[in-house]
Amino acid sequence: MKHFLFILLIFSASKIWSAPLPESLFKAIAEIENVNSMRESLAITIPENEKANLETFKSVCKPVGMRLQSLNKENQWSIRQASDKFRNPQHKAQGIEIKAINMFKKDKSLVSFISDSQEKDKIGFYYFRRINVQTSCLKCHGMKNKRPDFVIQKYPNDKAFGFSVGDLRGIYSFFVEVKK
Ligand code: HEC
Repeated sequence: MKHFLFILLIFSASKIWSAPLPESLFKAIAEIENVNSMRESLAITIPENEKANLETFKSVCKPVGMRLQSLNKENQWSIRQASDKFRNPQHKAQGIEIKAINMFKKDKSLVSFISDSQEKDKIGFYYFRRINVQTSCLKCHGMKNKRPDFVIQKYPNDKAFGFSVGDLRGIYSFFVEVKK
């Protein structure tokens, strides 16, 4: 299925918008789409009546994390998953990611946007892309007491449950520096 990508540029007074956007930004955006489609197509392979377990996790959100890691290594990128309701504490949303999450929550039709860093000592662009909850995600991110046993054991401070279809699960976040 061809994925339609909607990018909204958030313009600001920053001068960096006058130069062309870095090529790596577009490469990373395309890879984020691939990774997101991969998760969605993997999640629907868990049969309806099968309880999710460590094995099924190995075929859904684990390969997503691993793919991002290898993309980052290959390209010296820093694509992250971030959430205010995170399961893995490494995915806790920070700073500008919290602002992006609030924007996605306010505007459900907003799929992704590019923003400048808005910090003096960090010149470059951020890209944010929403991650929505689908029916297939609820086996592991649905009701608290329906979570698979491995999740309860492995993530004692889990916050990534209680979602409904269409909720914002989190974001992909990417920063590319622009040299002065
Ligand atoms: C088989 C269980 C399972 C299914 C199904 C599942 N997830 Fe996850 N998900 C997990 C686990 C476990 C983690 C923590 C991974 C880690 O340690 O990095 C996670 C982490 C995530 C994260 C990273 C942020 C965080 O909370 O750590 C996102 C985003 C996410 N899942 C989205 C989804 C979406 C969207 C779907 C449905 C398309 C989905 N998941 C389906 C088990 C699952």
